[in-house]
Amino acid sequence: MTKKLIAAIDTPELARAGALVRDLAPHCGLVKLGLEFFLRHGPAGFVQAAQGQPVFLDLKLHDIPNTVAGAVRSLLPLGAEMLTIHAGGGSKMIAAAAAAAGSAVWRPKLLAVTVLTSLDDAALAEIGIGGGASAQVLRLARMALDNGADGLVCSAHEIAPLRDALGARPILVVPGIRPAGAALGDQARVMTPEQAVRAGADYIVVGRPITEAPDPAAAAAAIAAHIR
Ligand code: C5P
Repeated sequence: MTKKLIAAIDTPELARAGALVRDLAPHCGLVKLGLEFFLRHGPAGFVQAAQGQPVFLDLKLHDIPNTVAGAVRSLLPLGAEMLTIHAGGGSKMIAAAAAAAGSAVWRPKLLAVTVLTSLDDAALAEIGIGGGASAQVLRLARMALDNGADGLVCSAHEIAPLRDALGARPILVVPGIRPAGAALGDQARVMTPEQAVRAGADYIVVGRPITEAPDPAAAAAAIAAHIR
């Protein structure tokens, strides 16, 4: 078991999500549920699948400040340990989300997504953002932390520049992780669990290499052992 491992439960099926949470929770710090699951099963499904285990609820909220603050307040009773927002919603939206999260007895950690890893420099130019992804990641990261976010979701290759610029304080949660020899799937620029933790990741998010393994619990245990 290591607290640093987050297992991504990317399935729309309630029973399968519940079974994966039960099998994987002993080996990891948190399980991650996202839009695919939450939009189908909602808060009741969340409670059923989570079975009281610590959850990273990855909904990447992005709307006007008032609406995002309301969404965060609506999520608070679920007791998720981590929530995500899009930093691109702007400083006021981030501050509103942080204030809403801070109103809870049990305050979830608020993580900001900067630039989606599916967007390259050309795709950013298409939406009017020149200067490239690296500069935009850093700009949004600073703004998110200055406005109350606790940390960032970032790619493995962003860990070093973010640590250089922002120091040890922000929580860095890193997807796009593949154990040596694992299938890449649609992830392009990956690191192994050990490399990402050595580079400064606080948490690594691993999905398919665990959930599609013949024995998901054994796969999670092996990754946990590597980074312990
Ligand atoms: O299966 P895999 O290990 O690629 O799953 C990674 C998880 O992290 C998925 O839930 C995916 O949505 C999420 N994620 C990502 N890249 C990002 C942000 C989130 O892969 N930039």
